[in-house]
Amino acid sequence: MLNDLKQQPADALLALIKLHNSDPRADKIDLGVGVYRTGQGDTPVFAAIKAAEAKLVAEQDSKAYLGPEGDMGFVEALMPYIFGKQDPAMGGRIEGMQTPGGTGSLRLALAMVKRAGYNRVIVGKPSWPNHNQICADLGLEVLEFNHAAADGSTDMDALRGALGQAQAGDAILLHGCCHNPTGIDYTNAEWDEIAGLILDSKVLPILDLAYQGLGQGMEEDAYGVRRVLAAVPEALVCYSCDKNFGLYRDRVGALYAMVTDPADLTRVMSNGHALARANWSQPPDHGAAAVRLVLADEALTAQWLDEVAEMCERMRQVRAALAAAGKTGGVDLTPIGSQNGMFSIIPFTPEQVQEMRSKHGVYFAASGRIAVAGLTAANIDKFIAAVADVTA
Ligand code: LMR
Repeated sequence: MLNDLKQQPADALLALIKLHNSDPRADKIDLGVGVYRTGQGDTPVFAAIKAAEAKLVAEQDSKAYLGPEGDMGFVEALMPYIFGKQDPAMGGRIEGMQTPGGTGSLRLALAMVKRAGYNRVIVGKPSWPNHNQICADLGLEVLEFNHAAADGSTDMDALRGALGQAQAGDAILLHGCCHNPTGIDYTNAEWDEIAGLILDSKVLPILDLAYQGLGQGMEEDAYGVRRVLAAVPEALVCYSCDKNFGLYRDRVGALYAMVTDPADLTRVMSNGHALARANWSQPPDHGAAAVRLVLADEALTAQWLDEVAEMCERMRQVRAALAAAGKTGGVDLTPIGSQNGMFSIIPFTPEQVQEMRSKHGVYFAASGRIAVAGLTAANIDKFIAAVADVTA
């Protein structure tokens, strides 16, 4: 029976890590998976996290189980950053639980949606490939709409059209900020309209906030989530700390549900707990506990916010340098300057993607998505020259 299983392709993004590692060239460039790199090309542990981890090791007196909801101190400490300091739980309408990374949160959100009787999810195209993968695995149909227009802004007409033809039983999955893979985000005015469209169409919004602080800033990047939540009766928010706390492999995330009547929250969240139990029982503790300790300490919080702001600023500088290159070979790098977050897409053909790898040792996704933080003062000129060469 096991022998009947069909070979599955390796995940294309994760496969890039190995592909890059096995290239012996010293001047190869890794623009693949979304990890932040400093100007020296490193992905260090945040200083605020290091300090919190030292505290954790010194003070933690037990590793006994916490339960399927994980570390609720961590879950609650994040809420003012996501939902605003004023009333983070929106009058008792929001509750969360810890999940293994943003993927764990999405998995739970979509499984809950399925349990609740939804059968279709409206998703922009392109999106992070795992969005569609999780939907497919859960047997949820996906209705795609075009995310980016030809002029490099968001394709609002496509979104209006998709929501216009929404039916009962539809949910919509939107990137809260730092759209992955295009870097093309909705403006605040567009979010204002989207909030109304979602309300009118009665679809359930699922908002994926995986890069808060890496676009325009912590508060600015929460605009869309807060705007939609202020307008609609129910929503799910999937959060990742993997990037903005640099905890990638520790798998730190959270799922939040907002309901109309606070009295329903316990019942709604019990479904998240039951699904967690059936999937991973309880989330890994260490990274979430470190985040909780950062957020419980004013000095560490300030240090963490500085570190996030520094990452954001460095990626803005890389973007500005690419934009300054303007027309490069057959492509125009200018739009990258006004995009947000870790990723942008350069319209390479599949052959050009291969040539960037084989001839120049530059690795990025087959979609043409580059992780901008992989570029540094030491390699950006080589990258721009390689782009000019293969697209000429
Ligand atoms: C990415 O898109 O590169 C990141 O979100 C990492 C991942 O898990 O795919």
